[in-house]
Amino acid sequence: AEVPSIRAALVQWYSTVHSSRSMPWRKPYDPTLDRDDRAQRAYEVWISEIMLQQTQVATVIPYYNRWLEKFPTIRDLAGASIDEVNALWKGLGYYSRASRLLAGAKKAVDEYGGRLPDNAKDMQANIPGIGRYSAGAICSIAYGENVPVASEIQLDGNVNRLLSRVLALHAPPKAKATLDILWNAASAMVHGLESEHPGDVNQALIELGSTVCKVRDPSCAGCPLQSWCAAYTKTTTSPTAPQMIV
Ligand code: ADE
Repeated sequence: AEVPSIRAALVQWYSTVHSSRSMPWRKPYDPTLDRDDRAQRAYEVWISEIMLQQTQVATVIPYYNRWLEKFPTIRDLAGASIDEVNALWKGLGYYSRASRLLAGAKKAVDEYGGRLPDNAKDMQANIPGIGRYSAGAICSIAYGENVPVASEIQLDGNVNRLLSRVLALHAPPKAKATLDILWNAASAMVHGLESEHPGDVNQALIELGSTVCKVRDPSCAGCPLQSWCAAYTKTTTSPTAPQMIV
């Protein structure tokens, strides 16, 4: 019952930080984009998500910009050689990510008319290197699908921590039952949306988790979810340091 209010506070907060922490892959959702434009957005978000898997935002930004200069569309990428791709990846590490991008682009061009599939289920099933997490991120952000940012084994780490605190979840972090609770909470955040967009909700959760609801010394005073946060509310001894639960 509280989800719509929580979501509204979250997205409102995100709209205020958005300008101060700008990232080239974050663009306001535009419902007027046609099918090809949305697929282009999906390509761009895909590149960002794969780069962000093991790498910090600040490191990723210049790599992302160089990549899109060299391979502005998925067709440009599909026509590249593995050496060109690896050269652009140099310094980012985990080179298998780059070769999977190339393989995914070739498949999208050969079998899907140069467009990444427009829903998480098909994308995950058919494009090499895209798991449930990336499919959730890409499809919510670029296609407006109401899917959470979660993999088979866990949510986005930042979202995981944030929701665990809001729910004051005392549970074994790796247990299936814990994942189910968090998955349900993350799904609830992107269901029944009216004016909000699921990509904004997911990115707001990621952003709040990484900049405010930090692992250590969370900045509860500046948190838009403070009044709903069970960890905050229950922690009477030290209100600025909610217990770390998961
Ligand atoms: N980490 C994973 N996805 C992200 C996104 N879209 N923005 C910022 N950090 C992220």
